[in-house]
Amino acid sequence: MKRTHHCNELRPLDVGCTATLAGWIDTMRDLGGILFVDLRDREGVTQVIFDPSNPDFKDLHHRLKPESVIAVQGEVERRSPETVNERIPTGEIDLRAASLTVHNISKTPPFPLEDDRAERVNEDLRLTYRYLDLRRPAMQQILRSRHRAVHATRAFLDEQGFIEVETPMLFKSTPEGAREFLVPSRLNAGEFYALAQSPQQLKQMLMVAGVERYYQIARCFRDEDLRADRQPEFSQIDLEMSFIDREDMYALIEGMLARIWKEVKGIEIATPFPRMPYREAMDRFGVDKPDTRFALEIKDFSELFRESGFKVFSGAVGSGGVVKAFNAKGLADATQGEMKMLEECAKGLGAKGLAFIRVQNGEWKSPILKFFTEDEKREMRDALEIADGDMVFFAAAEWERACAILGRIRLESARLLIARGRLKIPEDRYDFLWVIEFPLMLFDEEAGHYLAAHHPFTAPVDEDIPLLDSNPTAVRGQHYDCVLNGSEIAGGSIRIHQAELQKKVFEEVLKIPPEVVQSRFGYMLNAFDYGAPPHGGIAFGLDRLVAILSGRSSIRDVIAFPKTQRGQCLMSQTPGSVSEKQLRDLHIAIRDVPTAAR
Ligand code: AMO
Ligand code: AMP
Repeated sequence: MKRTHHCNELRPLDVGCTATLAGWIDTMRDLGGILFVDLRDREGVTQVIFDPSNPDFKDLHHRLKPESVIAVQGEVERRSPETVNERIPTGEIDLRAASLTVHNISKTPPFPLEDDRAERVNEDLRLTYRYLDLRRPAMQQILRSRHRAVHATRAFLDEQGFIEVETPMLFKSTPEGAREFLVPSRLNAGEFYALAQSPQQLKQMLMVAGVERYYQIARCFRDEDLRADRQPEFSQIDLEMSFIDREDMYALIEGMLARIWKEVKGIEIATPFPRMPYREAMDRFGVDKPDTRFALEIKDFSELFRESGFKVFSGAVGSGGVVKAFNAKGLADATQGEMKMLEECAKGLGAKGLAFIRVQNGEWKSPILKFFTEDEKREMRDALEIADGDMVFFAAAEWERACAILGRIRLESARLLIARGRLKIPEDRYDFLWVIEFPLMLFDEEAGHYLAAHHPFTAPVDEDIPLLDSNPTAVRGQHYDCVLNGSEIAGGSIRIHQAELQKKVFEEVLKIPPEVVQSRFGYMLNAFDYGAPPHGGIAFGLDRLVAILSGRSSIRDVIAFPKTQRGQCLMSQTPGSVSEKQLRDLHIAIRDVPTAAR
């Protein structure tokens, strides 16, 4: 019995025809011996009627079970007006079964597969039975959106003259800042590959190789602590171009994203995207990936509190730090528990405390109110538009820490305000933003030296090159991030393409010992001595992009077989142990496994 139609195809025009459908039993209802089955395939649902006057179908409801796979042949008939189901496109017809093939009887699924009920089920259970979870229409929809986003990307980049080139996953250290996964080499005893954290160096080699426009839907591997927006293996839309500047990149990417949004959501997004310097993003929003869908902006009050009677504030300013504050508009009724949670968040980022002013019934309430002069209160009221029902939060610390603390409290406050219905963000609002003018280097207090803000291949802004020797933190990098609704969806840069400058950055600024530079990047420095074109590129986190397109907060929802926070695949029980022989072949001995991890 071969299917002639899918389950979202038959319409009143087909009435009288014979058709064969195949799929999963979505629901079954037995009404006085007549069995009504909603048959589901990936396209939709059609109602099938089994009449017990056909001896083959006697007591059928005892033999079938939901989620079993069947094929049915029968005649399409029009439903009587009172039985029409307007909620499904096939609701005006049904299929009266003449013959049935049972392909596979299903056990009772371990959780309900209706979308709204399944979404409330424990995620571990859904991941253990991922093949059932993915059967749900909502998940099928996500897989399709992902496919269409990739398809639109490929079509667009092809039209723009890009060619897709695969690069090795078995590679060596790639400095994207995360720990790497190592793969032992059987043929080279005692040596290891690293799984590529990104194709970064290889795509640069393709530019030296004269490819000019490269892209790849690339798998990347990073052994980092996992969160809702991080997986140990994930996908990038990775690309690189020769003979371009930053403006070319912005225009290209805006075109690409417009194409994706058009094809997946049918929405025209506004281009060009706004641009915001890193410093401004930190000052106003407290992060380098601001969510600009709501205000609650942070303001600086360092000058106001330079001579403050509250020593925490004047002390911070006196020692070169700042005092910043923002108005969590409408959060005056934050509960004690919520305040505790916010304070813990702040302390987690190194805050000594989280000073606040609560405005209720026209009265300002705060443990530090006694320190504020009337002038200070007036200036704060004007700058932050403080009104009844508001809550103001303060941070006094070094600039970067104060920004980070309030950036986090701003997001948490927004979450609390959304839950109270006082802050509304439309579902289909997409705030794209370029964050630009990052510093090339950040000073790492712990390491005691500079670290690349993006990665060490990012080119400095030309006029700033002389500062590399005298004041590395003042050097601006030609780095750009693409931010969407407060999520960093892409990062890239114009690269260094001169061996001498690259070597200087490695050895003199980043203080990587020459022999390490030679062993890790020697081939790259060599390549730059054989005609390297100026080039630059970018990489998108495809999973994050699709999650936002699908209105999901976790990228696990948009990956067919994701890993848990502990890096495990619950369906296949991965990772697992291996045989002694396999280890011996790889010249590996296991040692010091903590008993808790066994
Ligand atoms: P970067 O390290 O910023 O840049 O990565 C690019 C984008 O990849 C996404 N991303 C992740 N997504 C899911 N899980 C992860 N663990 C994860 N880590 C990163 C983010 C990020 O913006 N080679 C450079 C790009 C370049 O310079 O061209 C790079 O990999 O959305
Ligand atoms: P204290 O003087 O330590 O009792 O602090 C008074 C108030 O200021 C408390 O609410 C603290 O949480 C808060 N606070 C202390 N240090 C800071 C700081 N560096 N930034 C912001 N608030 C602070």
